Amino acid sequence: MTQSWRLDDGRQTIVLAAIRERLPQVIYWGAPLPATEDPGTLFAAHALDVTGGMLDENPDLSICPEAVRSFPGQPGLILRGQDGTPLLPKFCFAAEMSEANALALDYDDAENGLRYSAEIALDPDTHVLTLRSRIKASEPVHLHWLSAPVLPAPQLCDEMIDVAGRWCGEFQLNRTPWSPGIRYRENRTGRTGHEHFPGLIVPVRGATNAQGEAYAFHYGWSGGHRMIAEELPDGRRQVQFGHAARMETTAATEFQTAPLYAVYSSDGLNGCAVSFQRHLRDRIVTWAKPDRPRPVHYNCWEAVYFDHQLPVLKDIADRAAALGAERFVLDDGWFGRRDDDTSSLSDWEVDARKYPDGLDPLIRHIHRLGMSFGIWFEPEMIYPDSDLHRLHPEWALGSEDQILGRQQKALNMALPEVRDFIFGRISAILAKHDIDYVKWDHNRVLPMPDAGQTRGSYALIDRLRAAFPGVEIESCASGGGRIDFGILSRTQRVWLSDSNDALERLKMQSAAALFLPAAITGSHVGPRRCHTSGRTLDIGFRAWVAAQRHMGFEMDPRELTEREETVLREVTAWWKANRDWMMAADILRLDSADPAVIAEQQQARDGSQFVVFAGKSATSAQIAPRPLRLTRLEPDARYAVELRNRSDASQLARGAPALKTRTIEVSGNWLMHHGIVLPWSFPETMWVIEGRRL
Ligand code: GLA
Repeated sequence: MTQSWRLDDGRQTIVLAAIRERLPQVIYWGAPLPATEDPGTLFAAHALDVTGGMLDENPDLSICPEAVRSFPGQPGLILRGQDGTPLLPKFCFAAEMSEANALALDYDDAENGLRYSAEIALDPDTHVLTLRSRIKASEPVHLHWLSAPVLPAPQLCDEMIDVAGRWCGEFQLNRTPWSPGIRYRENRTGRTGHEHFPGLIVPVRGATNAQGEAYAFHYGWSGGHRMIAEELPDGRRQVQFGHAARMETTAATEFQTAPLYAVYSSDGLNGCAVSFQRHLRDRIVTWAKPDRPRPVHYNCWEAVYFDHQLPVLKDIADRAAALGAERFVLDDGWFGRRDDDTSSLSDWEVDARKYPDGLDPLIRHIHRLGMSFGIWFEPEMIYPDSDLHRLHPEWALGSEDQILGRQQKALNMALPEVRDFIFGRISAILAKHDIDYVKWDHNRVLPMPDAGQTRGSYALIDRLRAAFPGVEIESCASGGGRIDFGILSRTQRVWLSDSNDALERLKMQSAAALFLPAAITGSHVGPRRCHTSGRTLDIGFRAWVAAQRHMGFEMDPRELTEREETVLREVTAWWKANRDWMMAADILRLDSADPAVIAEQQQARDGSQFVVFAGKSATSAQIAPRPLRLTRLEPDARYAVELRNRSDASQLARGAPALKTRTIEVSGNWLMHHGIVLPWSFPETMWVIEGRRL
């Protein structure tokens, strides 16, 4: 070994080391090592033995494994010359820049005229590693694949968890056993997608939400990613993340990956989740007005769809405000001749049939009610049957005979003239009206993967944000089709799902909390009978599930009974009273003894208070509720614990657990090792338990 580097944050140490001038390998990543640890010894001790049937030395599993150095697995970089000849890069050390928490390393391949650069930074507070790689070429080259700096995966680990999903069913966790070969996920849809949230969790054997070791990864890019989790023939494991392969459509002299975020935790999956939640909320998202409390939303989509009538919208706004809403979002249907989803996208002018005096009368009304006003756009889209398409057919992405999505095509966002046009249209609306929020939709996948499209979308959003810094943006794509740290570095909220079914949401929100904090996760109280599942759910359950995240309403408030209004008003008032600390809290997923109970503990940063949401997703197999263990409390501190909604107890709950009638005072250790005993409850209900450290 001749070179080594290490980064520390008190919770983890990562050590890189290289033989002579070669690319470095991550030789250690995990629990903190003493500062006195000798890197040379680590390096020598880390080397694997060899036996018959192997090369005489194990090829480096470097941060960019090189095929020419006999690496037996997937290389970190695949390039071709401009004439199509495969290049086989072989890098030698060129330069380094090393700071307390960051490292930048450059390597040259003189023969092929290439420079590979890796950046690795460790955030000392959130414990998130940010890794990125870049390739520069003296002549234009074609990029097939570039991985962010490659990290090893632990050996004492039987499975990996990644994320799939669908429309109205986002954030489904998949567990796949490690075995020789590759778990390969590649999203070629050109959009982050419901199907392919770019995340991976590698739990060390025995890890649960609250304990054990785990590693987690997220690739912050909205154009479709590729993930390789590979076990080599010698047993070593590597994790690669980058853009989907062959997304770069032209030869160029410079390419870079998006940031890969990675984290090691010694206290369960929650350690990873809290790091990502905090990093996203405190480092990635740029808030328009950081001190402004997250306003309760009202979104009119499921109330009126395309049928916009001013008196109806005003009536709905009155009712929403009376329930506690603070921002009214006018959804799809206000522009062009948008009476259904077959026309008008790209025609961002107010529909004079629906709004003869423009949007002002509605906006004035909303403002008089004390609410701010938000509006829906789907900027990257166009219809084949539109004036814009007739004028500029070349502005549409993809071929003439492509399969449409929701009857629409995507605009080619890589073209500056397209971005100028859309910028002009949107800024005309934003400049003319007092609007503080845009719901930015993206309802179809691309006809083919194209990194230029994503860069174009980012550039348009960045330009709009610079021009209208007070406007916040929600990233929506038929619900949760564009959720990642790339889009979230330019937006402030995600529409997790088009499903307002509280039961579906309960599950999704729990899984999404592995990556997303409450402050950016929109959740709305939907109609009594859910429009996307047909399920009928009680208002209490719907309201509390929305209150777990950034709360809003999306039903037609005219359908609410008096009881429903009362419950909704009360839960909303509770949410407002608690949002200041809750929107900055950590979401800790609880290890529930009863698989029917999906529970989480939202805990204030200083540990002084918490709220537990225990959702009953199904009837339980056993007859009496199993105690629910809490987590991350001070063992010896005493806590006052109270069942917030004890009046929701069913008449079938006949016993006398203390929480049913009074506040209990107990130690952290009791809460963490015995657990709270809840009253018996129906499925599709939620217990809300508040706790205060005394
Ligand atoms: C998408 C969104 C919905 C709504 C509709 C409008 O499906 O996810 O919330 O805005 O578009 O057409």
